[in-house]
Amino acid sequence: MTATLWTNARVVTADGSIDRAPQAGALDVLTEGGRILAVGPGLAGDGHRIVDCGGRLLTPAPVDCHTHIVFGGDRANEFEMRLDGVPYTQIAQAGGGIKASMRATRAMSVEALVTASLPRLDHLLAEGVCTVEVKSGYGLSVASELTMLRAARALGHARRVRVCTTWLAAHALPPEYDGRPEAYIAEVAIAGLEAAHAEGLVDAVDSFCEGIAFTPAQLAPLYDRARALGLPVKIHSEQLSHSGGTAFAARYGALSADHLEHATEADAQAMAASGTVAVLLPGAFYALRETVLPPVAAFRAAGVPMALATDCNPGTSPLTSILLAMNMGATLFRLTVAECLLGITAHAARALGLQEVTGRIAPGLAADMVLWNAETPAQLVARIGFNPLHARIFQGEVVA
Ligand code: NIG
Ligand code: FE
Repeated sequence: MTATLWTNARVVTADGSIDRAPQAGALDVLTEGGRILAVGPGLAGDGHRIVDCGGRLLTPAPVDCHTHIVFGGDRANEFEMRLDGVPYTQIAQAGGGIKASMRATRAMSVEALVTASLPRLDHLLAEGVCTVEVKSGYGLSVASELTMLRAARALGHARRVRVCTTWLAAHALPPEYDGRPEAYIAEVAIAGLEAAHAEGLVDAVDSFCEGIAFTPAQLAPLYDRARALGLPVKIHSEQLSHSGGTAFAARYGALSADHLEHATEADAQAMAASGTVAVLLPGAFYALRETVLPPVAAFRAAGVPMALATDCNPGTSPLTSILLAMNMGATLFRLTVAECLLGITAHAARALGLQEVTGRIAPGLAADMVLWNAETPAQLVARIGFNPLHARIFQGEVVA
């Protein structure tokens, strides 16, 4: 096997602090067999295939660690309703929101869902994403939730990308379980999790802990079951109100707690103690025109790693740009450029439990990298609606 030397790049490893102005050629990257062998100055050796990166910026490939890209239908009508002043919670309570996507998704086969989802995936890949998390959560029946995750796995075969699947049956209560959340958790969320896990469809378990969704007490049996199955957990928490999901999930050693606009300092401390990543989702904050900011200063003070993701979904964050997620993280949440870049690379990988697989340019990790027509990290974050991708490198191969 021939090793490849990526030379004359401005390398940002995301394996420590982020250099504001990396120098061209200061570091080389040596890859072989889909992995990074070495990072350092002057690695040229006999027999290496040499790629001259032309002084471009080389970063770890973005990891989109929170998406709902598999779904049926469209909810642009709800966008118009919100423009008319109807709040998201009211739309959801009137059978729109997640339930509207449920009706469309239940009507679709694995193949139809793959066809509908591929354009969204392709938008992410066009900005260099090499790892994408995909949640269920619009089926809300055992059969339809399984169909969603089969579609998610199929996406990983249709394109050169790593797909992480997340079981999110506890996303909303379907009408047939109205008033019976405990029965839904037992008969769909837990029974379905066991079936999906037996089929190898589940990398992590998630839920929506919110006034319009589930309480920590209702979710506890699901998280107990996930723990018994050895599956890592995550949570959508403190998005619209403070519902206690973050501290609850921290007790299960959650990989991540996501959204977090209404999280408190105590939540940040609980997350620091459990090693839970704060996944911030500025697309949903923007689309819902939220005004309460996530407690970024408390996360910094407590040493909680922050990730950024698109939360791509048909309602509250119809965003298929990880670069725009970074720009919004900076503009709306006042994250630094370094925090934004770590947020879509090293910290995003950690939010998926993949920190030893991808998200940094370091020996032993997958050679998932992007060459950008840019010289500094700030140039990736500052622009809006511009794609400076030069090459997406998945497992050591240029794939776009
Ligand atoms: O991550 N917060 C809950 N779930 C999604 C939105 C789902 C929807 O409205 O379709 C989110 O924002
Ligand atoms: Fe979400």
